[in-house]
Amino acid sequence: MRHALIIGASRGLGLGLVREHLARGWRVTATVRTRSTELERLHEGSAGLLVIEALDITNPGGVATLRQRLDGQWFDLLFLNAGMMAGRNVPLREVPDSDIAGIFLTNAISPVRVADALLDRVPSGGMVAFMSSILGSIGTNDDGRAELYRASKAALNSLVRSFRARHVQADLTVLALHPGVVRTSMGGPGAPLDIETSVRSVADVLEARWGTGGQAFVDYRNDIIPW
Ligand SMILES: NC(=O)c1ccc[n+]([C@@H]2O[C@H](COP(=O)([O-])OP(=O)(O)OC[C@H]3O[C@@H](n4cnc5c(N)ncnc54)[C@H](OP(=O)(O)O)[C@@H]3O)[C@@H](O)[C@H]2O)c1
Repeated sequence: MRHALIIGASRGLGLGLVREHLARGWRVTATVRTRSTELERLHEGSAGLLVIEALDITNPGGVATLRQRLDGQWFDLLFLNAGMMAGRNVPLREVPDSDIAGIFLTNAISPVRVADALLDRVPSGGMVAFMSSILGSIGTNDDGRAELYRASKAALNSLVRSFRARHVQADLTVLALHPGVVRTSMGGPGAPLDIETSVRSVADVLEARWGTGGQAFVDYRNDIIPW
């Protein structure tokens, strides 16, 4: 039975990815920063297949503690989903520096630090997936919307490529994923995709790319996105 470790699963797409992988017959370990009654309900009905752990991805001490707690366990899939929005519809000059630091730490630096800390729990042939966004594509940035969020996901993409390069010897598939524009608290009520459709499609992409090695920036339809 395959085992997934999904980071940032209290709600939205992370919670959806947990539900989808359980439905596909995986064991899942899911981390949350904030207690989630929905995830706890899933745990109760999971016959032990879902384990919940605590993690704020920006807390290095918490990352070290989690790594210790996971000693001896293997995860075929490590999925870094946690992310945030800041500064949407606000001119860059008016965004507080603390928000700028927070979004880069949360969306770019911390996911890669967590992946580095947990990579020795991913066996040969496994997969590390980072939740990016099409807005992180520099090559397709023609309108500048959500520029701070865009920059944080572009930084994530750059760090994902560095992560893959640093682990070039590893038998590993590394993905940066765009889940579509989805009706979550981040995507908003007018977004075109519901969570179920997005996470089902993302899980299909993971299957399609399983064991292919290398790295790719792809959307939920498995279409390549320019970096
Ligand atoms: N929705 C979209 O249209 C869309 C499009 C492209 C990419 N994405 C990306 O998809 C991912 C999930 O987004 P979503 O739409 O599901 O957003 P969401 O509903 O706002 O959920 C964000 C998740 O990230 C967690 N999180 C944020 N900061 C964290 C931290 N420091 N430590 C641990 N967990 C943290 C949140 O936990 P708490 O409950 O503790 O806050 C929550 O579980 C994000 O990376 C986002 O950038 C979303």
